[in-house]
Amino acid sequence: MDIIRKLLSHLGEYRRPALIAPVCTLIAVCMEVLIPYVMAVLIDQGISKGAMDKVWLYGGVMLGCAVVALVIDSASAVFGSRASTGLASNLRDALFEKVQTYSFSNIDKFSTAGLITRMTTDVTNVQNAFNMSLIIATRAPISLVASLVMSVVISPKLSGIFLVALVVLSAALIFIMVKVMPLFGQVFQRYDALNASVQENVTAIRVVKAFVRERHEDQKFSRAANDLHDLFVRAESLIAFNNPIMGVAIYGCIIALSWFGTHSILAGEISTGQLTSLLGYVFNVLISLMMLTMIFVMVSMSAASGKRIVEVLEEEPDIVSPENALMEVPNGDVDFENVHFSYRTGDGEGEETLANIDMHVKSGETIGVLGGTGSGKSTFVNLISRLYDVDAGTVRVGGNDVRAYDTEVLRDAVAVVLQQNTLFSGTILENLRWGKADATLEECKAACAAACADEFIDRMPDGYDTVIEQGGTNVSGGQRQRLCIARALLKRPRVLILDDSTSAVDTATDASIQRAFAEQIPDTTKIIISQRVSSFGACDRILVLDAGHVAAFAPEAELIETCDIYRDVYETQNKVGNEADFDKLEHLPRRVRDAKQSGQRGRLRQARGHRLRPDLATLRPGLLRRA
Ligand SMILES: Nc1ncnc2c1ncn2[C@@H]1O[C@H](COP(=O)(O)OP(=O)(O)OP(=O)(O)O)[C@@H](O)[C@H]1O
Ligand SMILES: [Mg+2]
Repeated sequence: MDIIRKLLSHLGEYRRPALIAPVCTLIAVCMEVLIPYVMAVLIDQGISKGAMDKVWLYGGVMLGCAVVALVIDSASAVFGSRASTGLASNLRDALFEKVQTYSFSNIDKFSTAGLITRMTTDVTNVQNAFNMSLIIATRAPISLVASLVMSVVISPKLSGIFLVALVVLSAALIFIMVKVMPLFGQVFQRYDALNASVQENVTAIRVVKAFVRERHEDQKFSRAANDLHDLFVRAESLIAFNNPIMGVAIYGCIIALSWFGTHSILAGEISTGQLTSLLGYVFNVLISLMMLTMIFVMVSMSAASGKRIVEVLEEEPDIVSPENALMEVPNGDVDFENVHFSYRTGDGEGEETLANIDMHVKSGETIGVLGGTGSGKSTFVNLISRLYDVDAGTVRVGGNDVRAYDTEVLRDAVAVVLQQNTLFSGTILENLRWGKADATLEECKAACAAACADEFIDRMPDGYDTVIEQGGTNVSGGQRQRLCIARALLKRPRVLILDDSTSAVDTATDASIQRAFAEQIPDTTKIIISQRVSSFGACDRILVLDAGHVAAFAPEAELIETCDIYRDVYETQNKVGNEADFDKLEHLPRRVRDAKQSGQRGRLRQARGHRLRPDLATLRPGLLRRA
């Protein structure tokens, strides 16, 4: 009940048609119920007595009733669909708007596939159920009661037959429903699995192909689809019993009525006309009953959907701007004070992803972040723009707790080039203007120059008007990264975070991007996550993360001296695998050169797997990146 109220609160401007539809149905049903009654009068007073004027009169009344019922019924159908499609559209709007306010952890909770099912299938279910209930839920009970009353008025004795049929039929239908309902409950869980499979595969079709997993994925999808199919078949075959039961009930009633009715006529208790109208009411009563059960199934089916929609609508975004939020980030200082953080994975608190992080960065510094896969680098930077909230401790930007800022202000000031960055469908220019809506072409060009994106954009036939496909699939990985960096630069942020954003860019370009940063945004704090030490050339200090702990935080020269992890990575990466080494190879003795080249080839092979699944990399993926 509560769910229905919450869903209906989104009717908005469609409240009027939602009220008109049942009123129309009410009038139409009254007309329909009158028809058999008028027919009885027509037969008894007109046909039996041979009075043609009565036949014309009552015939006219019947026709009038029928026409009025037809017109009003159509009107109610129109209003009903207007109201239900309106409700669906409002619900989708509300869901979409709500999801936009979600933080990363809210999204983690529902999963993307889950959110999509809720916005599509679930809303459609609610829409259908609402449409049905507007029209049929008023029609069926009114028709049932009115027809019963009329038949009792005509002959209390014969309407006893109705009652017997009614009880038998209700029992049968209730039995079916009790069996069917739980099946429909399961159907929706399967929908989630199906959508997850579709969503995952269609968005990652390239990876599926690269790993020749089409057949496997196909089977996975077939399994999900078959599960759903089986459930539906089971549910529907139970519902199919409705029809024969109805048939038995209706025809049984007709036979019984004819039998007892003729006796009554012979005994002079009722007239022929009255018997005819009773037969008409049999249909009305039993069909109303069937409709009622149908609605019941429909509504309970969509109750699950309604619940899932309300869940999304009621989820509190766990990151919201505070009241009296700070509207300006004064500078690019970044401070972590004893920060602890863990992801909420559903099964209670897991191990801490970040523990006791304490570090302070001055505005304008360039900081490198190094650490093995899963050591918490991305998590660490996501806390700075408050994509997640800390469990304990404080993260400060510009000297203030990030929770004190308006989230938009904060995220404008802290530009993150995410590890899984995406471009959106539209032109390059449109994509860049995500960073700054009113950026001029010159500003965009300058940002692209800094991000070393200008050279390949200029080579494209349509230049800045080149259309990017959804997800940026028609530019290379390195090009995409450079565009994403340019997009972030356009924000002129106080803090710029690159989460492994130059991994697909060659070392020389990487270095020139960093030079551009130093020249063009000297006051911006730059935090650069990378797997290769060559990216840290311009860094004032480097933070080494190890399993969520700060292993070291110092300038590179000091780290080489004091930090084992860093020295280890530094040495392996500098021994072989520096692009510069390639150029120098010819100066080396032949034996050494061969050894290095074969080493490189081995890594090349590993790198193929690595690029597709970055999380497969181990602590020294910098080696791999080089290939
Ligand atoms: N959304 C999430 N929900 C639950 N756990 C997560 C989530 N994101 C990351 N984790 C877990 O948190 C840990 C740290 O992940 P994080 O992404 O910060 O690593 P990383 O250092 O950036 O690794 P990489 O070098 O591969 O990018 C990992 O163990 C990971 O499994
Ligand atoms: Mg990461």
